Amino acid sequence: MKIIRVSSYEELSRKAAELIAAQIILKPDCVLGLATGSTPIGTYRNLVQKYRQGELDFSEVTTFNLDEYLDLTPDHPQSYRYFMNSNLFSQVNLRSERTHVPDGCAQDPAAYGAEYDQAIRDHGGIDLQLLGIGNNGHIAFNEPCDRFVPETHVVELKESTIEANKRFFNSVEEVPTKAITLGIASIMQAKKVLLIADGKGKKDAVEKSFFGPVCPEVPASVLQLHPDLTVICNVD
Ligand code: F6R
Repeated sequence: MKIIRVSSYEELSRKAAELIAAQIILKPDCVLGLATGSTPIGTYRNLVQKYRQGELDFSEVTTFNLDEYLDLTPDHPQSYRYFMNSNLFSQVNLRSERTHVPDGCAQDPAAYGAEYDQAIRDHGGIDLQLLGIGNNGHIAFNEPCDRFVPETHVVELKESTIEANKRFFNSVEEVPTKAITLGIASIMQAKKVLLIADGKGKKDAVEKSFFGPVCPEVPASVLQLHPDLTVICNVD
């Protein structure tokens, strides 16, 4: 595990984008695992800038996103598909058929989850997985739990997650209570994992996850077992 401590959000975003850019340059047809939330916005902004400056070509890149709220359609402004289209996909030369965000409206989420995991395997797995971290230590929407769930699955969001995410909605009642999320196996099978954590509110989650015991009550702690984990944090 490599921990890079930075002192600003700008530095965090620049360093994260540099690592992702290096991945794309070294393997132009790489598979990126992508996250939403407020933390990666600056990273995506830096990647867009590199693309505009002619430093990056996304034409052969494939992406798989971590999660999606249940029952939000792709055109809903708070859906993660909408977020990705706005912040990255529409800004670079990614081919839309190579972008994947879990379908929160799938008729049979269990069957759909198995297909999503299979699609990742069919693409040879994820080369680099970008992750944020929840205040409660969640990664993707793998919430604190009594076991690590390996496969893509539907979760009930914890009160603390709903509370943290209400800032994106008009009211707390509008925040979906369920989501579909990649499980721990696909994340752990990624060849490289890059986790970004910003703000004092994440300090406790970072300490518990990377300096405490590995346990499903702190989902991100499983990453201690990943052979190629980089954490960039601005939490002091
Ligand atoms: C989003 C995701 C979540 C977020 C986490 C932190 O795709 O998987 O685990 O990374 O909730 O969100 P922010 O960055 O908004 O603090």
